[in-house]
Amino acid sequence: MGRQIEVRCKYRFGSAIVKTLDKVGQQIYPETNHKTGFNGMQEIHLATDGLPVRKSGKWAERKHHYLKNYCGITTVSMRNKFKLVYLDVMAGPGRCKIEETGEEFAGSPLIALEHDFSQYIFIEDEPELVQALKHRVAKHPKAEKAKIIPENWINYAQTGKLKFDDSTLVVAFVDPTGISQVPMSAMKILARNPRVDLLVTIQYRLGIVWNVPQYLKAKGNETALDNFLDEPTWREWEGKEAGEFGRMAVESFCEKFQRDSGFIGTRHVSIPEKNPLYRFTLFSRHPLAQNFWHKILKIDEKGQRELL
Ligand SMILES: C[S@@+](CC[C@H](N)C(=O)[O-])C[C@H]1O[C@@H](n2cnc3c(N)ncnc32)[C@H](O)[C@@H]1O
Repeated sequence: MGRQIEVRCKYRFGSAIVKTLDKVGQQIYPETNHKTGFNGMQEIHLATDGLPVRKSGKWAERKHHYLKNYCGITTVSMRNKFKLVYLDVMAGPGRCKIEETGEEFAGSPLIALEHDFSQYIFIEDEPELVQALKHRVAKHPKAEKAKIIPENWINYAQTGKLKFDDSTLVVAFVDPTGISQVPMSAMKILARNPRVDLLVTIQYRLGIVWNVPQYLKAKGNETALDNFLDEPTWREWEGKEAGEFGRMAVESFCEKFQRDSGFIGTRHVSIPEKNPLYRFTLFSRHPLAQNFWHKILKIDEKGQRELL
């Protein structure tokens, strides 16, 4: 690709790239001018393909390792039994980059496209990232099997359009940056599907531990934590150390979600392995899915075998 020129806009919290021009000044990204999707909180970075990328830590590779292997084991084992749909409700731009090293790797939608699903549904609500994802998916040989929905997934789920029939096994990836994006009510809409395996990252540190004082100070019952847990007993945990508070919140979420939706709990993976920022886990109703999960957990992203 030729030399690219980035056109940046200054915002309150930094700057975002709003256009990429080629060396003769033709705009290659975005294809048409539109209001930038920059939300005032996150800066948009570019990948070597000239499109926005998700700035990630090295640990994202750990999450992607288990996602890739779960998609692999499920598609190979179940493709003759059900129609397989991959649903990514917070899909991102399709590519990640580690800021410190510049290393780039595929984001979750492009990882899923490497596996044999009948259909791929990617939801993303940041317009710049939607456009980047569209460009990347369009280049993939399975592009015609993918649908990109530029919406807030919570609103979209409420329309009833994420409902699949009994002959479909949905592998849903729920990968938020905080807990406000995963209210229990929306998770339960996904859970209404008769056959669904939910791979979920739970933002333990950023979403809960770091915000304990704010949650405790808040009046009323409309905090992100209230919506995440869908019950008020967390207010009785005042006085608990923040880490313990976070652990109790994750447990409470998982117990309630499992109990109310009939899921089997599975082991949580810490990401990163030391000083975790979040947990990664599977909710499924089927013991076979639980077996798959436990099987893939035996080998980590460094190729090391679990010593159990
Ligand atoms: C952690 S990133 C996803 C990374 C991606 N799953 C991957 O592994 O490559 C979360 C993404 O969700 C998007 N997002 C946040 N809230 C959303 C919502 N309510 N509906 C749809 N997308 C949302 C953000 O813009 C961001 O791109």
